[in-house]
Amino acid sequence: MASQRPLAIVSGGSSGIGLELAKQFAANGFDIALSASSDRVQSAAEELRALGAEAYPHQADASTFEGVEDFWTFVSSLGRPVEIAALNVGIGLGGAFVDNTLEDELRVVAVNVTGTVHLAKRVVQHMVPNGTGKILIVSSVSATKPTPFETVYGPSKAFGFMFAESLREELRGTGVTVTALLPGATNSDFHKNAGMGNSPIGRQQKADKTMVAHQGYEALMHDVDHVIGGDEALRQAILANRTTPEPVKAAQHAKSTRLD
Ligand SMILES: NC(=O)c1ccc[n+]([C@@H]2O[C@H](COP(=O)([O-])OP(=O)(O)OC[C@H]3O[C@@H](n4cnc5c(N)ncnc54)[C@H](OP(=O)(O)O)[C@@H]3O)[C@@H](O)[C@H]2O)c1
Repeated sequence: MASQRPLAIVSGGSSGIGLELAKQFAANGFDIALSASSDRVQSAAEELRALGAEAYPHQADASTFEGVEDFWTFVSSLGRPVEIAALNVGIGLGGAFVDNTLEDELRVVAVNVTGTVHLAKRVVQHMVPNGTGKILIVSSVSATKPTPFETVYGPSKAFGFMFAESLREELRGTGVTVTALLPGATNSDFHKNAGMGNSPIGRQQKADKTMVAHQGYEALMHDVDHVIGGDEALRQAILANRTTPEPVKAAQHAKSTRLD
């Protein structure tokens, strides 16, 4: 018999915050379609099945138009309404802008900006006619400041934050809500994959990814516009970012991201 559980989709669901979000959805009665570029997505699906969910893993590269479209075609082929969409996939890139290759910088834009717009377009055009749905866009506290030595990453996350807030207002009254999750430094593969293992932020103690995902889940379910993923001290620091001049924030950030 076909599953009666509602369906959530999670991009970048094979590890880190995405997998923890998927676990939150699974534990709260959702089936999950999840994407990633590597075959780790298969073992992630097994973890979700162990929580009682139907899990539909899909392998595709979110840095390409074909990869994003392919994931949506896969989701559509399930023939079920999407109740929750977590647009989580994102990559970082540490190092000096002058040294990094153009290809690597543009991959950050492709995954974090272009890919987010692409999947959001498919999701919104699916959810609005249904008159219901919840969209979670995973941004970052990096959206609230300049981010030297990850100079393209922070602005890509600022895009995600303001995109979420814009879409939220535009969709008011449609039954579709939009929430942004802004995690601080969180324990996942993120900094290692971004080549930032040898930086102060790469080495520092980080927030628990399960807690961060839970904060995102709660904000999404309670229709909050955005939530900081982290502790109270981080929330206060991010609040202070509203009035701190950009050059001051840039200098502070560089201290934590400059590679040794
Ligand atoms: N960790 C932090 O400190 C932190 C802080 C603020 C915001 N965030 C944001 O949180 C989100 C999740 O990051 P995370 O910390 O959980 O990092 P992560 O552990 O590196 O997870 C990234 C996920 O995205 C997938 N992925 C990466 N490149 C992909 C591609 N080209 N195509 C398809 N899937 C791809 C990865 O799977 P595969 O490797 O199998 O492809 C993995 O499932 C990102 O948007 C990130 O910007 C993270």
